[in-house]
Amino acid sequence: MASPKYASLDGEIVAWDDARVHIASAGFKFGTAVFEGLRGYWNADEEEMYLFRMAEHMDRLTFSQRFMRFDELLTPQTVTEKTLDLIQANGFKGENLHIMTTAYVSGQGGPGVCGPIGLAITAQERPRSERVISGVTAQVSSWMRVPDQAMPMRVKCNANYNNGRLATVQAVADGYDTAIFLNSRGKVSEGPGMCFFMVRDGVPITPSVTNDILESITRETVLELIEEIFGVAPVERDIDRSELMAADEAFFCGTAWEVTPILGIDRVAVGGGDIGPMTKRLQDTFFAVSDGTSGTHPEWRMPVYGTAAAKAAE
Ligand SMILES: Cc1ncc(COP(=O)(O)O)c(C=O)c1O
Repeated sequence: MASPKYASLDGEIVAWDDARVHIASAGFKFGTAVFEGLRGYWNADEEEMYLFRMAEHMDRLTFSQRFMRFDELLTPQTVTEKTLDLIQANGFKGENLHIMTTAYVSGQGGPGVCGPIGLAITAQERPRSERVISGVTAQVSSWMRVPDQAMPMRVKCNANYNNGRLATVQAVADGYDTAIFLNSRGKVSEGPGMCFFMVRDGVPITPSVTNDILESITRETVLELIEEIFGVAPVERDIDRSELMAADEAFFCGTAWEVTPILGIDRVAVGGGDIGPMTKRLQDTFFAVSDGTSGTHPEWRMPVYGTAAAKAAE
């Protein structure tokens, strides 16, 4: 897909090819940066672009900056405003977006340098990937999820993502679509960039937030939707590796992965090897909530263009 016209760098809208950082910056050298991946969902009927759970993403960006002890914190207001400006400048309409908002140390020095802080934002059209619909296979990785006392996954720090890279490239080399990490206690943690759920006897189960996972906003969304749709209380607890083989259904969730069925783990079919009925219903509901077609949970959607409000005012 062609590059968009503009990116946003340090508060300015710049041509895509001019969005560069210095090679001596700590952000570039050590991955001293924190980010949020978000989605914009296009609602054709309303001719509106909705940012999904922007406020929660901005809260997490603040937490990550604070945790990394950045000299100054970019506020949710600033990052939100610059993100809206960028999408409007590009004039994206008609397709879903993937957005990245990154607070990075532009200061030059060692890994301990704490500022100044730059802001980099990209927004690109990204249609829903085929694998989200059709499902994926996963390998239980021989790489361990980095433990909280080493590099907390709770913090969305760019450098953390090389742990996920190792597991992903190994899984793909071995003929799988992606990986599932175990943590230092041998319990199921999450995927390289998404959280894990399984269903056993009608009850959705997911690793608790003390299993070296990112405190995922989609996971929170899914936990809430499960109660609403099925009237079942999902369970957050440790999951043993052996339990994966007992799952009737399994799926990943996350901003990029939305709700993605898992068809097989370690070449063993999950349930019947098809998309499970709870997973399918949850996926349909998630799609309809995120682009606003269901009309429910308006508090989760931030309009970019204000089309509905403008129409209402006419
Ligand atoms: C490591 C990791 N786990 C889980 C997730 C899912 O988090 P969220 O739903 O907030 O996007 C992500 C990001 O998408 C991630 O990078």
